[in-house]
Amino acid sequence: MAAVTDQVKRLFTLSLGDLNPFRREENYVSVDIGSSSIKVIEARTGVHGIEVLNFGSVPTPTSAIHSNMVTEPDMVGEALRGLLEHKGIRARKAITAVPGPAVMIKRVSLPNQSPQETEQAVLLEARNFIPEELDNVNLDFQVTSTAMGNDDVEVLMAAAKKDIVSSYADTLRVAGLTPVVIDVDYFALDNMYELNYDPLENQVAALVNIGSRYSSINILKEGRSTFTGDVPVGGRDITEALVRDLGIPADEAERIKLGVAAGDFDEEQISMALLPAVDALIEEVHYALSFFWTAATDERIDVLYLSGGGAMTPELANRLAERAEAPVEVTDPFGRIFIDEEVDAAALRRRASEFAIAMGLAVRRPVDK
Ligand SMILES: Nc1ncnc2c1ncn2[C@@H]1O[C@H](COP(=O)(O)OP(=O)(O)OP(=O)(O)O)[C@@H](O)[C@H]1O
Ligand SMILES: [Mg+2]
Repeated sequence: MAAVTDQVKRLFTLSLGDLNPFRREENYVSVDIGSSSIKVIEARTGVHGIEVLNFGSVPTPTSAIHSNMVTEPDMVGEALRGLLEHKGIRARKAITAVPGPAVMIKRVSLPNQSPQETEQAVLLEARNFIPEELDNVNLDFQVTSTAMGNDDVEVLMAAAKKDIVSSYADTLRVAGLTPVVIDVDYFALDNMYELNYDPLENQVAALVNIGSRYSSINILKEGRSTFTGDVPVGGRDITEALVRDLGIPADEAERIKLGVAAGDFDEEQISMALLPAVDALIEEVHYALSFFWTAATDERIDVLYLSGGGAMTPELANRLAERAEAPVEVTDPFGRIFIDEEVDAAALRRRASEFAIAMGLAVRRPVDK
């Protein structure tokens, strides 16, 4: 892409880049900083394509993330540094993502013109859709399609406030890493999907990532992203419902939710507290999906892929399938990925859905290598 004007700093490099499967490269570490945990994957491009060399996670220090921003980069960075040390991860080039809710995303169709003209047109559009001074945001764009039936091309624009983006970059630096790409979690999920699944002709798939404090929705038509949205609910709300209804502390509620302890409760008491919270989460997701149904009246969603730690919530997948009247699968982000023999692959597979975003980030490379 052409150099950007001084007014915008290229931040997100949205393309997958070209992966040369025969070239061994240095290792990169991808870092998914969530409000409940920090997840990392060390990977490189080798003879098997992307190869996972190491992975791990550590709880995020409490109250270190607010309003989609790392408010305590020192604390989070130190926790990350500890995790890297503990796992023996020595890669220093890092890829991370800002949370989707922090990002303004817009798709516009523009005349097919020179890169410089496209950039000017993007700036003009950006002034209209971004409710901020352009000086205060990081903006990037990518031409995503030429198949509009006329001479127009589709351009995907993404913008995030600079202080939010720098809070993530600073966190990596505290941990001794060099941020080389800052992506958006939605796009990382796209890339994870593209690596592992072959979309069928005309298929509409919804990627639904259930995190701790928010869940994101990404609708793909034949593998191309057409709609992104998020809802402010996730696994934390389920734990909080257990705390409230069973009158127990959060750590006990968390263990009960994960099925590792039952405390003093029988199955029925647990279900009675759990299911309404699961259904409330499903309603929120369904509501967000309904925006897609409204915008595209003749479309239906053929399949939903769940990811994120919350994807494993008991009863979530089958109840969501009933509500959305479509099959729901828990995503396997490592289905087609080579996992190095040094890695405890069984442990990774048990928690695979939690690492979906980190895996999607692991394929990103800086454009200017
Ligand atoms: N096996 C499981 N069953 C049910 N819930 C689970 C399971 N494993 C993890 N979770 C829940 O998943 C949530 C964490 O998911 P994830 O790691 O995707 O969130 P996060 O990235 O830290 O948060 P966010 O992105 O929302 O800031 C927690 O609420 C946790 O309780
Ligand atoms: Mg997350």
